[in-house]
Amino acid sequence: MPSQQPTENHLNPIIIVGAGHSGVAVAAGLRTRGWDGDILLLEAEKETPYERPPLSKELLKAGAPDESTVLRKEKFYQDKRIGRRAGLAVDAIDPAGRTVQLSDGSRLGYHRLVIATGSRARSLTVPGARLPGVQALRTRDDALELKLALVPGARVAIIGAGYIGLEVAAAASAKGCGVTVLEFQDRVMSRVTSEPVSRFFEQLHEQNGVRFVFGAAVTAIEGVDRAERVVTADGTSYPADVVLAGIGVVPNQELAADAGLLCQDGILVDGHGRTSVPDIYATGDVTRFTSTIDGTSQRLECIQNAMAQADQVAADITGQDAAETEIPWFWTVQHGVRLQTAGVRRADDEVIVRGAPADGKFSVVYLRDGCLAAVDTIAGLADFRPAKKLIAQKARIDPLLAADPGTPLTAAVFAAA
Ligand code: NAI
Repeated sequence: MPSQQPTENHLNPIIIVGAGHSGVAVAAGLRTRGWDGDILLLEAEKETPYERPPLSKELLKAGAPDESTVLRKEKFYQDKRIGRRAGLAVDAIDPAGRTVQLSDGSRLGYHRLVIATGSRARSLTVPGARLPGVQALRTRDDALELKLALVPGARVAIIGAGYIGLEVAAAASAKGCGVTVLEFQDRVMSRVTSEPVSRFFEQLHEQNGVRFVFGAAVTAIEGVDRAERVVTADGTSYPADVVLAGIGVVPNQELAADAGLLCQDGILVDGHGRTSVPDIYATGDVTRFTSTIDGTSQRLECIQNAMAQADQVAADITGQDAAETEIPWFWTVQHGVRLQTAGVRRADDEVIVRGAPADGKFSVVYLRDGCLAAVDTIAGLADFRPAKKLIAQKARIDPLLAADPGTPLTAAVFAAA
């Protein structure tokens, strides 16, 4: 299909709000797909748009440079004529007037608007949560603040044993900090993985000196001028010089909701990134949409989705077809061991362990109604690529064969009847 080009009716730019992975990818995708009109990327943070995954991993390491990895060099934005205004927030959207109101009081008209505002760290709301020494990790500034605090001997209390909490626990223990992780569930990463994987990573952390407290309900952070201890509902105090809250994220949807866009724990979008309001798109962590794989409503917090939706938006604006969407995938590295996940597991999936966790390398296969729904690979990627294909095909899997690590996953597929 020919690319839709600007006409005299397209005097205003395509405005993209938010320069994270998805926002930057929309701008780049529009140019790749031949859009010739003006593009303006607005971002509340001041610096060149950067990658988030290293913030809780490489950036925290001793001796690692403070420079974060930029998503695109400045020259890219110049060469591609992508206008950027950093350090400016969008305060309001007027869909009827097709304008946005900026934090400096100015107003800009848009031809199309793309909301890529992402998500923010969920705030800890207990008394003392605002004391100095208590922080979250979402931005580069957060990461640099945390890095300074992670000195040998520091007592680090981490609230939440999710991706962020565990990656920071690994970085902090490697730097010689005393690390205690307080999690209100009964195992680590319970949102994203099954019990065998949780237990494997718990042991790995414990072998590296990390202490876990499960079923922990944090009731207060106490201290005189700064955080000194974390208190839980049973009255126990955990002394702390640094408190990190890694208790999940919430979508930055208020801007959209205030402008009348339909939101439900995420801005609702269709398979083209279109919101409920004409000419306004949304993409990335901030969206909620129907999975093409199983028809469920979902909000995905991963780069794969940020990039896929960005492509859908750029394709729709230019009147082209989007690339085929990859199966969602996720990864984390803790104490040098990589957990990589394809697909989105559910708590009621059948769980099949391939290999022995005691060997330090194994996979876990998740079956839903007999079909492959997700795979976790630990310290090896052999099952990852085949799994992505088989999940997309909704392949029926023989559980006995899948349990044998010597049988390739592709050979565990039931032959069609
Ligand atoms: P998460 O949802 O992965 O984990 C949050 C954990 O905190 C859960 O285990 C939950 O049970 C626990 N929790 C919640 N409230 C609590 C409370 N009051 N007290 C104790 N425990 C509590 O969220 P996380 O780790 O904050 O990550 C945030 C975002 O960053 C996510 O979008 C995640 O996908 C992304 N991220 C992804 C990474 C990756 O893919 N490798 C790495 C780091 C972050």
